[in-house]
Amino acid sequence: MYLHAFKEQLLGGPAEARPHGRDYTSRFARWDSLASVRRKPRREFEADPAGLYFPPELYPVVLHPLVAARGEAVVSGLLLQRLYDYLDFTTELENLAVIPVATKISRGRSGLALPEQMRADAHKIVTDEAWHAQFSDDFARQIATETGCPRLGPQNPAGPAFVTRLDELRHRLPHGLRGVESLLFAIVSETLISGILSDLPRDDRLPTAVRELVRDHAEDEGRHHVYFRSVLKCLWPALTPSERRAVGPLVPAAIHAFLAPDYERAAHQLAGAGLSRDEIDQVVSEAWPADQVRRSIAEAAAQLTYYFTEVGALGDSRTLSSFEEAGLVGIPHEAEKAGRVPREVTA
Ligand SMILES: [Fe+2]
Ligand SMILES: [Fe+2]
Repeated sequence: MYLHAFKEQLLGGPAEARPHGRDYTSRFARWDSLASVRRKPRREFEADPAGLYFPPELYPVVLHPLVAARGEAVVSGLLLQRLYDYLDFTTELENLAVIPVATKISRGRSGLALPEQMRADAHKIVTDEAWHAQFSDDFARQIATETGCPRLGPQNPAGPAFVTRLDELRHRLPHGLRGVESLLFAIVSETLISGILSDLPRDDRLPTAVRELVRDHAEDEGRHHVYFRSVLKCLWPALTPSERRAVGPLVPAAIHAFLAPDYERAAHQLAGAGLSRDEIDQVVSEAWPADQVRRSIAEAAAQLTYYFTEVGALGDSRTLSSFEEAGLVGIPHEAEKAGRVPREVTA
């Protein structure tokens, strides 16, 4: 088992036989003086009875009349649960999706022939992400103590929605390519800076410590974004044409896995707030209309779509069709327009 784990690569076959990645400029030279794990304190949560725990606009079920009618205490409780879910999502994402990939890269077992500096920097990403997972978990514990309101019910046994979506994606890949979805998903999730990461630090309705915690995370993720764009630039030319044809059409599903709202989790929380099954179905479908979700995902992913275009992925007709069917093509990306990073809609 351990020998198997040692040898297992994310992308099969001898890495040296694949084209070598050379396009890399490190953003980690000043990591010791910039990384939050090195220079930021533990954030200490203090309850603010008048404050919001999470922006309602990023969790639109609470704005639905059927939920709002239940009163401020119910809405506030749901926003608190949403904050718990975000913290839990962060810990799971780091542990399941990012740390394993960065670890494989650091040990030279991604299956790609990457520059030495890129491998060295992957260790710093592992450390950053372990810290993000740790401080998110620690913060959730502080919130429970300070507010006296623990997470509602047991943790979701199925995990956040991205976990099952990622399993579905893996099963759509040919056997020989299974594992590459983890690289793909790390690229997708690390280059899509979330709406939470970009919006929460600026939202002065929220407790200060929440804003600081998310800002600490966002600052590290800026460096990771640049890194994983480089990973994509190394990955795509390293794939054979038939591998590209197999992987390319699945990219929109990886984007969806990360960006689509976690409907089941929302349903679970609404049930905890006392809504009936019919009310939950109505609230979820009306708070997240399918065409609006699709549009929001496309806008959030516009820059990433540009990155895939840049490496030539959309030159394959089935990949292009898949992007078109997902509504991802033809959306101007925000970085192009204003030097900004796009949003996430999962919030
Ligand atoms: Fe992170
Ligand atoms: Fe990251």
